[in-house]
Amino acid sequence: MQMLDLIRRKREGQALAPAEIEAMIRDYTAGIIPDYQMAAFLMAVYFRGLDREETAALTRAMIASGEQIEWSSIPGVKVDKHSTGGVADTTTLVLAPLVAAAGVPVVKMSGRGLGHTGGTIDKLESIPSFRVQLTREEMIRQVKEIGLAVTAPTGKLAPADGKLYALRDVTATVESIPLIASSVMSKKIAAGADAIVLDVKVGSGAFMPDLESARELARIMVDLGREMGRRVVAVITNMDEPLGMMVGNALEVREAIAVLSGGGPRELREVCLTLGSQMLLLAGATCSDGEARRRLEELLAGGAALAKFRRFIAAQGGDPAVVDRPELLPRATDQVTIAAPSSGYISAVQARLVGEAAMLLGAGRITKESPIDLAVGIELKKRLGDYVNAGEPLAVFHVNDRANLETARERFLAAYILAAAPPTPQPLVYEIIR
Ligand code: URA
Repeated sequence: MQMLDLIRRKREGQALAPAEIEAMIRDYTAGIIPDYQMAAFLMAVYFRGLDREETAALTRAMIASGEQIEWSSIPGVKVDKHSTGGVADTTTLVLAPLVAAAGVPVVKMSGRGLGHTGGTIDKLESIPSFRVQLTREEMIRQVKEIGLAVTAPTGKLAPADGKLYALRDVTATVESIPLIASSVMSKKIAAGADAIVLDVKVGSGAFMPDLESARELARIMVDLGREMGRRVVAVITNMDEPLGMMVGNALEVREAIAVLSGGGPRELREVCLTLGSQMLLLAGATCSDGEARRRLEELLAGGAALAKFRRFIAAQGGDPAVVDRPELLPRATDQVTIAAPSSGYISAVQARLVGEAAMLLGAGRITKESPIDLAVGIELKKRLGDYVNAGEPLAVFHVNDRANLETARERFLAAYILAAAPPTPQPLVYEIIR
């Protein structure tokens, strides 16, 4: 196989044969194809795209690059959920115990945060002594015992995707629909769940800026999963502002506890109920959306979801006392109020900039290797459409190190547009693609 020929043909917009794509991924994973050639290929894909057959071949090749897990020794339909990445998106921390409390086994491999988006594994690590690395046997035992387990991936799942994603991250080739679809689905399929609910985010804090591209991404991922024998549904949800009111690891754990206790921000709760209902439906645990929702609402109101969260924390070595005493979670030394510079309705929020401001405070990683501070972040005080008076708090920054405070403040304030009229409200959940 001549990599130069593949780059040239893709540059000219030609379709490659599945066998060519498979050989290319095999050789790239083995270190035979250098990064500079793969970077050129990725840029050609960014501009020219991949057709369905090429995307499926790429997905299969990335799955085949590592181990493939299967959980057949655990009874029932095992469900997983994946978000394409957002800001203040704490849904997994709510959904895993909530859906498990409904009797549906949840087996989840979650990632760490990168850039402006957070990651479930970092959030869980803010719970004192919580273990995020479980062996396969520990996962199986725990799911059989309490119905859920969440672990960090081992690097053995779809390693070709890990290598390609790192290269895409530094070559401005992340925002490509076929590349995102194959990246997400290769990991999800290799991780072995029977049913997968995809949360495709659209808006200012998401990779997909508009509904049309989100729809296309969702359709491709659902079809890929189905072709590979999984039950898949995609929910397109709004990321035009941070989903919850907390951005930062320990802060988001607090917010998840609030939702699991029957409270929390309406928007976060609503997206959790929508995704959770789809998880129950896919698993065959209920036959209607209305019934699924009612059941989940009861589990939140009656304390069963919160009790499951306590058991989950204890099972993974963490201190379950944080559920009743969230002050045991790491806390920043300083709280700095960020005031609105003028009066008006919040007519737009660049959610990505809010995520970047939190990252500058230390809540997120600038590069994969950067250390993070689990205690710091941003507590939002206002939402899209709210009216603020000049000088009124827009947010509180939870800070340990003031080195980047001013840059973070500027980045945060740049995210907000204040206007004389309120914006037209947008749906929180746009569509469900089956
Ligand atoms: N999340 C992924 O796992 N891969 C992408 O390419 C983008 C978001």
